[in-house]
Amino acid sequence: MQVLVAKNYDAMSRVAADIVEHQIKAEPQALISFPGGDTPVGMLEVFCSKVNRGEIDPAELKFVQLDDWVGIGPDDAGSCSNFIREKLLKKMSKPFADAFLFDGSQSDIDAQLEEQDAFIDRYGPISVEVLGIGMNGHLGFNEDGVDFSLRSHRTPLSATTKSVQRKYFSGQDLPLTEGITLGIAQIMESKTVIVIANGKKKAEIVAEAILGPVTNRVPASVLQEHPNCIYLLDDEAASLL
Ligand code: GLP
Repeated sequence: MQVLVAKNYDAMSRVAADIVEHQIKAEPQALISFPGGDTPVGMLEVFCSKVNRGEIDPAELKFVQLDDWVGIGPDDAGSCSNFIREKLLKKMSKPFADAFLFDGSQSDIDAQLEEQDAFIDRYGPISVEVLGIGMNGHLGFNEDGVDFSLRSHRTPLSATTKSVQRKYFSGQDLPLTEGITLGIAQIMESKTVIVIANGKKKAEIVAEAILGPVTNRVPASVLQEHPNCIYLLDDEAASLL
């Protein structure tokens, strides 16, 4: 595992997009995957600028979404699919060759999970998986206690995730109790994993994930066993290392 520390959020976002660009240049037909949440906003802006300036050509790239909330879909503000559509797909002047987004508002969630697994089997393994880290160390919605052998799956949300949730919905409490996510098995099969984290509030969980034991109580700790994982932090998130 490599740990890179950037001086602030903007620098972290630029370096994340640069690493993604580097991987894509080596593999223009790559399958790539980005998370939702607040952390990747800056990286997505830089990524889209690179596409729009012609520095990244998405024409042969494939994209798969990391995770989402069960019960809301791409037209609902606050869903990860809405976030990806608005902050990534709509901002790119040229589309990906193919993209898979969840629709958590559909009743047949299992069908979507099967579709996601099939999408990854068709184009994968994932070349570059960018991840955020939850306050409890979750990756996507692989919550504490997760079985590391799972692929795409549906899962109850932890109490921590439910308490953090309202920041994505303008402070509203929504009755969202489940998530859908790529599994740890698919994350571990990704050729390169980049975890981005910024701010003091992430310092403690980042330190636990990097320095603590590998345990499903802190799902991100499993990345200590990934052959090509980069933690890209701002100085605050790295402050307890
Ligand atoms: C969210 C998402 C994850 C995200 C993580 C961190 O709940 N399920 O995909 O990476 O938690 O979110 P944030 O970047 O907003 O801190």
